[in-house]
Amino acid sequence: MTNFDEQMKKRVAEINSVIQSYLPDKVAPLRCPQRQDAPSISMRYARDGATEGFQSTLLDAVNYSMLVGGKKLRPLLMQQTFVMFGGTSNAIRPFMAAMEMIHTHSLIHDDLPALDNDEYRRGKKTTHVVYGEAMAILAGDALLNLAYETAVKAFAEAPGDPNIARALAILTRKTGGFGMLGGQSVDVEYAGKPLNDEQLAFIYALKTGALIEASMMIGAVLAGASDEEVEQIEQAARCVGMAFQIQDDILDVTGSEEELGKPVNSDEKNQKTTWVTAHGLDQAREDVEYYSKEAVRLLGGLPYENEFLDELILHLINRTM
Ligand code: IPE
Ligand code: IPE
Ligand code: MG
Ligand code: MG
Ligand code: MG
Repeated sequence: MTNFDEQMKKRVAEINSVIQSYLPDKVAPLRCPQRQDAPSISMRYARDGATEGFQSTLLDAVNYSMLVGGKKLRPLLMQQTFVMFGGTSNAIRPFMAAMEMIHTHSLIHDDLPALDNDEYRRGKKTTHVVYGEAMAILAGDALLNLAYETAVKAFAEAPGDPNIARALAILTRKTGGFGMLGGQSVDVEYAGKPLNDEQLAFIYALKTGALIEASMMIGAVLAGASDEEVEQIEQAARCVGMAFQIQDDILDVTGSEEELGKPVNSDEKNQKTTWVTAHGLDQAREDVEYYSKEAVRLLGGLPYENEFLDELILHLINRTM
């Protein structure tokens, strides 16, 4: 294992334990305060399988989708941008978990029959295949909500930190109609129709770029970066997002299902115009490299440095999963 691989493994393990600490676990029973003879409403739920709350299937589906795997790239980018700017606030922890919850929500819904209709994700059956479509829709919604519940915990982690409100504004904006969900909507609306480069770049900047931008911007903001610095990070992250989605399109054609943990040829099945169908594989590969190096160049324009972050972005050029 190279030094980089070792550091990755260690950091992803740390991130996994942060995320797990915010997932649904035991909740105390409720009792109607006015009537002592009212039945207590049990909300007890435990991840180890001891469930009493009637909504345990929903919470199981939430935990299934979160614990099943994934690269944890977005929390990692958030953490490493935070490190780049010399961040020390504990507020980063709930935000890393919240970002992974929003991302996982986007994947549960992306795989639904109404969207890409895919049966595997992160090497396991998709949430709707295991728990049914209704429960997958609700689990996706519950995760999106849990993300905001979790992010708000930053106020308790770092009382009085003025950057938490800035970070929340970014998180919420980049998730919605002007961010990831906006991109997903255009992606499905234009399936089966030709797209020009401007339209395709718009979709990629939103459906994939927005959460990567939010991750890196929040890392910077929570470390106290200025608005100008955060804007520079946004530009760099947009390039990371473009490279990441173009590589995702490439792997949809050239990858192995076993390594990816999700089906190949999903884009063809759904008649998606992708960077590969529009420009061919060779050009797409060149563009992944171009955007990745451009991201590192933009980061280099800032008066701070994190070699591991640069290395991570360049490693993604050759990712196979
Ligand atoms: C998949 O994201 C969806 C895209 C935006 C292309 P990832 O490739 O980061 O998925 P996980 O989290 O590792 O499963
Ligand atoms: C999905 O793009 C982006 C989001 C989930 C927001 P894709 O549909 O290409 O992602 P995969 O290939 O299913 O992971
Ligand atoms: Mg999709
Ligand atoms: Mg998909
Ligand atoms: Mg894809």
